[in-house]
Amino acid sequence: MPYDPSKPLQDRITDIGPKNYEEFLPPVIKKNFGKWDYHEILEPGVLVHVAEGGDKVFTVRVGGARLMSISHIREIMEIADKHCGGFLRFTTRNNIEFMVDDQSKVEPLKKDLLSRKQPGGGFKFPIGGTGAGITNIVHTQGWLHCHTPATDASGVVKAVMDDLFDEFTSMRMPAHVRISLACCLNMCGAVHCSDIAILGYHRKPPMIDAEVIDKVCEIPLAIAACPTAAIKPAKIKKPDGTEAQAVAVNNDRCMFCGNCYTMCPAMPLADAEGDGIVIMVGGKVSNRISAPKFSKVVVAFLPNNVPRWPETTDCIRKIVEVYAGDARKYERLGEWAERIGWEKFFEKTGLEFTHHLIDDFRDPAYYTWRQTSQFKFTG
Ligand code: HEM
Ligand code: HEM
Ligand code: SF4
Ligand code: SF4
Repeated sequence: MPYDPSKPLQDRITDIGPKNYEEFLPPVIKKNFGKWDYHEILEPGVLVHVAEGGDKVFTVRVGGARLMSISHIREIMEIADKHCGGFLRFTTRNNIEFMVDDQSKVEPLKKDLLSRKQPGGGFKFPIGGTGAGITNIVHTQGWLHCHTPATDASGVVKAVMDDLFDEFTSMRMPAHVRISLACCLNMCGAVHCSDIAILGYHRKPPMIDAEVIDKVCEIPLAIAACPTAAIKPAKIKKPDGTEAQAVAVNNDRCMFCGNCYTMCPAMPLADAEGDGIVIMVGGKVSNRISAPKFSKVVVAFLPNNVPRWPETTDCIRKIVEVYAGDARKYERLGEWAERIGWEKFFEKTGLEFTHHLIDDFRDPAYYTWRQTSQFKFTG
């Protein structure tokens, strides 16, 4: 039945959940489910998994822009139809994986993938993202779709991946380097737990739209949204001279998180010159060798220099190069920085240490300071 707007609940289908993934497994995966013996990375972007009975599945991983058109998805399907019996998968970092059940099918698939270019010259399906390299950047909506960003997502990610492209197609890092981006400190995604994180940041307190605030905001929610209690209820004069229930922001207590704007549309704070990027490093989610770690702020501000964000790409390249040249095999960026000491991290990378990097948020800030005389002199 077609949808009838006068009877919205008629023939309504609901609570059916996602399709069962088993419907979409390639035959070789279905047959050997739970019976895999070992796997190898044959070359950057190409894995082989060998099952107990000897069956093999070869996986070719390619980069994806994450934000993609249906025509691009149709092209992905066309490739899967041609080489993989119509099957494919997307990874947790939004790469695309094409699987074949025989080694002889790998080279034709690779050749086909690498032959496909965008009209502007970029690879549509660059092969890589495996092992100790730099795989896809987990990222967010940015100026394409969200209303709270302090920077863009797709644009910054494209600029950084262009700059680090050779590390996507090779495996010459000491360990995986996960880069992620979030366009505000809601941190949708993985910025708080990545080797390198790019984070959108405001530097100005919210403005208050006196004319509408009492109509569009539940004022106690805006007050309770503030982590530093910078907001209090206040009466303000509207442009027409009448008084309205509103809020007052103590600018000295505000640290520009934007949480009040998420709650209250009359408290916008985005600003072209004030907004920019913070760089964090040293997080990880795996339990390999060391426990999972949060990433830490190491660069307090880089400008939103559209469309290529050169300050941001330069900064990330420098961190990656110094880490790659100095860390031990298997050592994640955070493990390396903690082993050499953060003062040495700043010395080696040449990043400037500023007062912004010293934690000042509530009691736990104290535990991030140094209660020891152990330190290294730096030059
Ligand atoms: C609570 C459960 C899980 C959480 C929180 C989780 C989280 C994550 C995260 C954050 C990453 C990115 C890792 C990084 O950046 O270093 C990741 C990667 C990955 N996870 Fe999980 N995961 C979970 C369970 C699983 C399970 C059950 C599977 C497989 C059956 C799986 C397969 C993978 C794979 C294959 C990757 C790497 C993808 C790539 O390199 O493109 N995960 N996971
Ligand atoms: C006994 C079975 C398996 C074991 C012991 C195993 C073990 C591992 C290990 C240790 C890694 C990390 C490799 C690295 O550091 O580069 C890895 C990565 C991975 N495995 Fe497996 N694996 C098994 C089966 C599978 C199966 C059945 C699949 C999917 C069909 C799979 C998909 C992957 C993927 C996608 C990665 C990420 C590779 C990368 O990011 O470079 N694995 N596996
Ligand atoms: S990180 Fe912030 S700005 Fe970006 S999509 Fe999430 S909520 Fe929106
Ligand atoms: S931006 Fe954040 S810190 Fe500033 S007033 Fe709003 S909620 Fe409070």
